[in-house]
Amino acid sequence: MAKTLIKGGTVVTAVEQMEADVLIDGAEVVALIRPGTIEIAAETVVDAKGCLVLPGGIDVHTHMELPFGGTFAADTFETGTRAAAWGGTTTIVDFAVQTKGQSAMEGWEAWMGKARGNCAIDYGFHMITGDINDQTLKEMELLVREGVTSFKMFMAYPGVFYSDDGQILRAMQKAAEDGATICMHAENGIAIDVLVGQALDRGETDPIHHGLVRKSLLEGEATHRAIRLAELTGVQLYIVHLSAKEALDEVISARDRGLNVYAETCPQYLFLSLENLGNGFDGAKYVCSPPLRDEAEGHQERLWQGLRTNDLQVVSTDHCPFCMGDHPRFGTQKQLGQGDFSKIPNGMPGVEPRMSLLYSGGVVAGRIGLNRFVEITATTPAKMFGMYPKKGTIAVGSDADIVVLDPNGTQRISVETHHMDVDYSAYEGWEMSGKVETVISKGKVIISDDQYLGSPGDGEYIARDTSRYNI
Ligand code: URP
Ligand code: ZN
Ligand code: ZN
Repeated sequence: MAKTLIKGGTVVTAVEQMEADVLIDGAEVVALIRPGTIEIAAETVVDAKGCLVLPGGIDVHTHMELPFGGTFAADTFETGTRAAAWGGTTTIVDFAVQTKGQSAMEGWEAWMGKARGNCAIDYGFHMITGDINDQTLKEMELLVREGVTSFKMFMAYPGVFYSDDGQILRAMQKAAEDGATICMHAENGIAIDVLVGQALDRGETDPIHHGLVRKSLLEGEATHRAIRLAELTGVQLYIVHLSAKEALDEVISARDRGLNVYAETCPQYLFLSLENLGNGFDGAKYVCSPPLRDEAEGHQERLWQGLRTNDLQVVSTDHCPFCMGDHPRFGTQKQLGQGDFSKIPNGMPGVEPRMSLLYSGGVVAGRIGLNRFVEITATTPAKMFGMYPKKGTIAVGSDADIVVLDPNGTQRISVETHHMDVDYSAYEGWEMSGKVETVISKGKVIISDDQYLGSPGDGEYIARDTSRYNI
């Protein structure tokens, strides 16, 4: 097998920072070497002098090609995983979908078909269980055996992915039995739909009203309910895309009671706010659920605090891009909501800039340390979703998924230069400190010298184990 040596950099894991050369044999890390101690012959040498050598990013919340809001998320598995690689992410966990009346197993197989042979980086799946019934409960067990060890349920979106409390309880009981994790979209969708209808009746149709009706209190309420149901069943609960301080308070209180309750937030909730939803229909760029929150209410500050105190464990993206103009294949996307904010497809692009945003806006800005950056972007996602220690760290025997980041480099985020298949950037013109220089996926250099060197099909399916976070 071909050897690769990453030479002269500072290796950073969730717990260490050390001057070390990293020797890769084939797809695996085989040694960490004190510089200058042993002469190693390698076919490929990556010069990492002055750079940070990090575990490849793991984004455990993406939606490639998601059918949603009358259209499809614009990135395919091919374009979305390539964009992820450009940004220093080497693994995604996407969401396969079971629709009403469909078997969950069939849903998963359909998503496997979309991803197989197309991905630039390794990928796994959570399963969206959109129809909990006796058959689905049996299939959950089969899916766990196939490496789908987490199930996403929605307390939001009545009539689409929504599950009622009885369905949630049944799924949680089954997941607890199988050692699986329930990932919860915690917003009270029934109450929100009433507020949406009332706003539209008042003629409030602009995107800003998406943010105003989806109250943070209703995210807090749903989070509380999800936690109580989880407590009853003993299941491990992971709250996805947490945006509100009221929801964070519920997670903190559950964790203080010793429950296996965890949560992720996303860059948009840390760096953007309700204000972005203003400015007429331009705000449609920022329509996602839960919505961006009012900075004056202190949500963003509390989320950063939660990341520092480990009340929030992960930052993923919820990457779910829709174009402002027509998409070449899918046609009208965000414009579906002209004159009615509730018809704007929910979701934002983010898989590519996640690592840069968190390095620049987190580490360089002094909000989190370098080890914590690695922990929330790679190590904990891997542990939480059964991929550690193959993924999420740099250690002997781990997959050689590695990012070389130049802390002195800079980068300007723009739609002109990004690789996601979407016609805007939510962070247009933002100047980032630090630049991803080289990306290695299972021993293969896929980004180097501003060139993509990989190909569709490099990425393989990861049959995930059950969560190892609390073990
Ligand atoms: O607005 C969002 N979050 N779109 C993607 C679907 C979801 O709820 O995760
Ligand atoms: Zn969601
Ligand atoms: Zn999502």
